[in-house]
Amino acid sequence: MQPFDVYPRWQIEPVKAQGCRIYDKKGEEYLDFYGGHAVISIGHSHPRYIEALTQQLSHISFYSNAVINQLQGRYAKKLGLMSGYDDYSLFMVNSGAEANENALKLASFYNKRKKTVAFRKAFHGRTAAAVEVTDNEKYRSLLSSNIESIFLPFGDMDAIKATLATQDISSVIIEGIQGVGGIIVPTPEFLQTLHEACAETDTVLILDEIQSGFGRSGRFFAHQYSGIRPDIITVGKGMGNGFPVSGVMISQKFKAIHGQLGTTFGGNHLACMAAITVIDVMKDENLVENAAKVGEYLISELKQINRIKEVRGCGLMIGLEFSEPINTLRDRLLFEHKVFTGASGTNIFRLLPPLCLTMEDAGEFLIKFRKILK
Ligand SMILES: Cc1ncc(COP(=O)(O)O)c(C=O)c1O
Repeated sequence: MQPFDVYPRWQIEPVKAQGCRIYDKKGEEYLDFYGGHAVISIGHSHPRYIEALTQQLSHISFYSNAVINQLQGRYAKKLGLMSGYDDYSLFMVNSGAEANENALKLASFYNKRKKTVAFRKAFHGRTAAAVEVTDNEKYRSLLSSNIESIFLPFGDMDAIKATLATQDISSVIIEGIQGVGGIIVPTPEFLQTLHEACAETDTVLILDEIQSGFGRSGRFFAHQYSGIRPDIITVGKGMGNGFPVSGVMISQKFKAIHGQLGTTFGGNHLACMAAITVIDVMKDENLVENAAKVGEYLISELKQINRIKEVRGCGLMIGLEFSEPINTLRDRLLFEHKVFTGASGTNIFRLLPPLCLTMEDAGEFLIKFRKILK
C-alpha cells in the first residue's frame, strides 16, 4: 500500500525539531515560521512536554469515556482560568473540523434550526458540516449538500442584521482571525454587532479560534480584542502543540444531555496530559505576552518594507500580501535561507511561528526576508 497522494510536498524530510528550529535528514537547520500550520505553540520538543507525555505513557495512555478521567476536569479548570472562561464547559475531541462539527450540531440541538451563516473566505475544516461552512467549492462533495449555509461578506454589518432578522438561522460561525483566507482581522465593531444580532435573535455565535487561539494573536483568544463573549468557542491546533486534541468550549445556556455528543478518542489521558502541559508552559513562560511583544516588533519592521502591499494580523499570526505571486520568493526563503513559512492563495505569506519565538529569531527572519526581496 502507498499513502493516498493528496499533498503537494516539499522535498525535505524533518527528523528532529527543537524550539523554533527544525532539522532535516541531511542535518540542515531551518527556522520555523510556519509552526506546521499554526500548531506548534510552546515550541518543538519542549522538555516539560516530553517528560509529561513520557510519564503519562508509562501510567495509562487511553481508556474510553465510559470511565472517570480526572485529567479532563483538571484540564478544563486550567483552560477556563487561563482563557477567562471558567464558567464554560469543555467537550474534548480530536481535530479542528470535529470541534466545529460538534459546535454546529450543538447549536442546532439548542434552537432546533437548520441554517448556518459563515463568511466569505472562511475555513472551518473538511468534514461534512465544517466543509459546508468553508468558502471553497473545491473541498465539497455532494454528500453534505443538504446542509444549508449562507456566506456573507466578512465585516458586512447590514448583511448580518438582515439575515439574522429572519430568525431561522441556527448559528453563525466566524474565525477569530481568518487564517486560510489570508489573515483577515475582524474589527471590534463588527464582532460586537454580530454578537448583539445573535443575542437578539437567539442565534448561536460560534467563534472558531482553532488557528487564532491559544495566544497566537497576542491575547489568549483573538476575539478578546473586541470584548465579546461568544456562546461557543472551538479550539485545536496550538492546544496540543502537535498532539491531536481539540475542544468545544460551551456556555451555560447549553444543557448537557447524556449520549447527545460522543467520541472514542476525545479527551484521552495522553491528549489531556499534552494539553495540560501546553497550558502550564504557556503560563509559566508568558508565551501569550511573548507572542504580543515579538509580533508587534515583526509587524512594525515588516511595515517598513515597500514591496509588501499590506501587512496584516496581530501577535504571531501575520499575513504579508504582495501584488504578485510569492511562490518563487517562498521557495527561495525555504531552500536558500532555510526558513519555513505558510501561504494563502497565490500572493500572501502567512507567518505562524511557535509562540516562544525570540527577538533574535525575529531579527534573523527579517534579515533573510529582506535578502529575498533584493
Ligand atoms: C480556523 C480553522 N478552523 C478549522 C480548521 C480545521 O482543523 P483540522 O485540520 O484540525 O480539522 C482549521 C485548519 O486549518 C482552521 O484554520
